[in-house]
Amino acid sequence: MAPRRLVAGNWKMNGDLAALDQIEGIADAADGARCEVLVCPPALLVHQMVARAAGRIRVGAQDCHGNMSGAHTGDVSAQQLRDAGATHVIVGHSERRADHGETDAVVQAKAAAAHATGLVAIICLGETEEQRDAGRTLEVIASQLAGSVPEGATAANTVIAYEPIWAIGTGRVPDAAQIAEVHQKLRSDLAARLSDGGHVTLLYGGSVKAGNAAEIFAIPNVDGALVGGASLKAADFVPIITAIS
Ligand code: 13P
Repeated sequence: MAPRRLVAGNWKMNGDLAALDQIEGIADAADGARCEVLVCPPALLVHQMVARAAGRIRVGAQDCHGNMSGAHTGDVSAQQLRDAGATHVIVGHSERRADHGETDAVVQAKAAAAHATGLVAIICLGETEEQRDAGRTLEVIASQLAGSVPEGATAANTVIAYEPIWAIGTGRVPDAAQIAEVHQKLRSDLAARLSDGGHVTLLYGGSVKAGNAAEIFAIPNVDGALVGGASLKAADFVPIITAIS
């Protein structure tokens, strides 16, 4: 069984009720797509996006708390996201690691909470430019993977997204050999740790656009993409969905 292919959009802190109009065009493309299609809007929009999507695309969230409930003002639980109709949740995005000081242990707890409620956890990792320049990329990736993936992770409940921090929102993309090297490392580490690690979906994220998607999808062990800016408008996102073969 080959890993399931997935093209996922991360709207970050963008979008409003009017932006839900984009879902129609995205869902039209998803109907004939050779991959699963997911959009992760801000948590407040999940419920209404699920209604608009009518089962034609998956809807996810961008973060959840590591606890199931309790005194955590301003946070959202995995169970609440599931209740709203989400199927996936992104955890450990570099913007959350940076803005909220999330460590691997925090990310691991969030992924475990997602699993406990039946959500697929999309666990993000990636190196800074300084780490890459110092030749530490594979070591950093391996350490984040080891620390962020919880017990009980499987190919069915876990997706890994490699997002080099220096490629996010910059228009800069690693070359194919650099992406292939990291994804090969992720694949082999997952295969060593999980009985079905060979089947875990591995996404690349960071400045994926219509113009580079096909080239990125052709790289070994790249099973799809996590797309930021180019997922906000159907006109930009649809050509990425259709680029996957
Ligand atoms: P961009 O596609 O805007 O570079 O963002 C990537 C990202 O962070 C997706 O999670």
